[in-house]
Amino acid sequence: MSDLVIEHVFTAYDQADVLCDISLTVGGGSITCILGANGAGKTTLIRSIIGLTRPRRGSIRFGAQPLERLSTHEIIARGIGCVPEGRRVFARMTVEENLRAGAYLVSSERAIRERLSDIYEIFPPLRERARQLAGTMSGGEQAMISIGRGLMMEPKLLILDEPSLGLSPLYVEQNFSVISRINARGITVLLVEQNVNQTLAIAHHGYVLAQGRIVAHGPTARLSKDPEVQRAYLGKAAEKGTAVQHDGPAPSTLVGEGWGRGS
Ligand SMILES: Nc1ncnc2c1ncn2[C@@H]1O[C@H](COP(=O)(O)OP(=O)(O)O)[C@@H](O)[C@H]1O
Ligand SMILES: [Mg+2]
Repeated sequence: MSDLVIEHVFTAYDQADVLCDISLTVGGGSITCILGANGAGKTTLIRSIIGLTRPRRGSIRFGAQPLERLSTHEIIARGIGCVPEGRRVFARMTVEENLRAGAYLVSSERAIRERLSDIYEIFPPLRERARQLAGTMSGGEQAMISIGRGLMMEPKLLILDEPSLGLSPLYVEQNFSVISRINARGITVLLVEQNVNQTLAIAHHGYVLAQGRIVAHGPTARLSKDPEVQRAYLGKAAEKGTAVQHDGPAPSTLVGEGWGRGS
């Protein structure tokens, strides 16, 4: 399985660097997480990987393939899927049309149907509502659509940008469970999240981003005890007096859990 390797990346929107000398590796087969406060540069890092904002310096490669000069389409075609921030679903399109939009590079109707059936297996509620307009569905169901759409190209690496943001706790729980299941199917996951405890519980390796720099990284079992982590971001949890723990189930124990109908 291919690693995603980022070396010495600097990315700026105008003059000022938003990302400063970022080096990180997403090991093939792993769930690797990026934690960081609002404005730390997490989305900019994702945009840099998928070619939406070109790094000013540095290299990004997926396996042996350098990505820096490829278009976003070419990057997606090489097996990198992305679930963007804010789960942008097409409100006036049906669930199935939304999912099909994720397979725009696939021409075989048979392949598309096979993939739809795969996605419906992961998200049973979507099968039942395949013809419903996406805009009429709950936030949790829209999250399923958004993740499902990211899977339609059968990515080797799936990047998720704060998939649980704004979801009710039950759906947050289901989201994490489904991310573990996706990973158990052999898909490498790069997860950007603000739900620190749950993220550290399912991820194998993590990086903490603060003001565009990596301030801590390591296996999540170690990161969860790192005072730098508490300080850099986990501010929010620390203020509330919630200790950062690594007491969640091991990823493998989540495999096979079904999706409930939710609230
Ligand atoms: N399109 C943009 N143009 C200029 N500055 C931006 C743009 N997008 C984000 N920024 C700035 O870059 C910094 C990092 O933003 P972002 O990557 O969205 O952080 P995060 O995803 O961690 O919240 C912020 O200071 C933000 O204001
Ligand atoms: Mg963001």
